[in-house]
Amino acid sequence: MSVICFASQKGSPGTTLTALSVAATWPSEEGRRRVFVEADPFGGVLALRYQLSLEPGLVTLAAAIRGGITSDEIWNHAQELPGGLVAIIGPDRPDQANSVLAATGRKLGEWLFDLEDTDVIVDVGRIASDSPLLELLASADIVVMVARPTAEQLQPAAQRLVSLGLEPSQVGWALIGERPHGATEVEKAFGIKVFGVIADDSRAAHALEQGGTGGQLRRSALARSAGALAETLAQQVQLLQVTAVSEPALPDEPAEFADFAASRGSNNGN
Ligand SMILES: Nc1ncnc2c1ncn2[C@@H]1O[C@H](COP(=O)(O)OP(=O)(O)OP(=O)(O)O)[C@@H](O)[C@H]1O
Ligand SMILES: [Mg+2]
Repeated sequence: MSVICFASQKGSPGTTLTALSVAATWPSEEGRRRVFVEADPFGGVLALRYQLSLEPGLVTLAAAIRGGITSDEIWNHAQELPGGLVAIIGPDRPDQANSVLAATGRKLGEWLFDLEDTDVIVDVGRIASDSPLLELLASADIVVMVARPTAEQLQPAAQRLVSLGLEPSQVGWALIGERPHGATEVEKAFGIKVFGVIADDSRAAHALEQGGTGGQLRRSALARSAGALAETLAQQVQLLQVTAVSEPALPDEPAEFADFAASRGSNNGN
């Protein structure tokens, strides 16, 4: 029903944790389900992190899709993560992850889009030029590019986002913190909206990765900012499904670093 992809372009900004936190806080709606799909061609982390079996998971789902399955069968390929989020676990080995996605990426995408009353949150990891997920990304409802707001991460990520050929209402940033560049400044420099800013909090990040689910952690700035991002994305999905959102076109080429640097009023970016 809706497919929301989380991606990165350079570095390891926090894509997986952001996608997981958004999926965990996705607004629940009667009759709608959500599932997290770990589809990083460079290899997943969930099986190792939570000592889960690789099967059932992406490998068994991909084989089943190639063989032809009904949408309800997705749950046969899912496992529960600490905290209760239902996830399709990806292979941790990059060669296996890449080959399963190369063999099934397009079909997997089509199949996920046909799931009824289900919001699918996909961690596609870093987008290489030959990523097996380029087709899936090009037909996603929304692509969220996760980046730390530094020129080194933003500039290549902006170029990649523009190259996907999606509408401006379908793409945006999730920034990890606002240093050195704030959300308004980033939007202005690249002409791409910021869906949300996730709190830069390594302690909370580490605790969440350990499977922490306590009240204090749920009230942490990181969890609350992920919840706000989930809310924004869920609303955007609804808007997109009801009406074509008209927004100014994305620039053909995003701003170059020199322009971006020149657009900064001060060093702290605020
Ligand atoms: N909001 C955050 N605040 C502080 N640290 C974070 C945050 N999100 C993630 N991190 C930390 O950043 C590192 C990378 O996180 P994560 O694995 O989620 O990133 P990634 O972009 O998926 O990386 P990869 O490219 O390896 O898939 C981890 O050490 C994690 O604890
Ligand atoms: Mg990751």
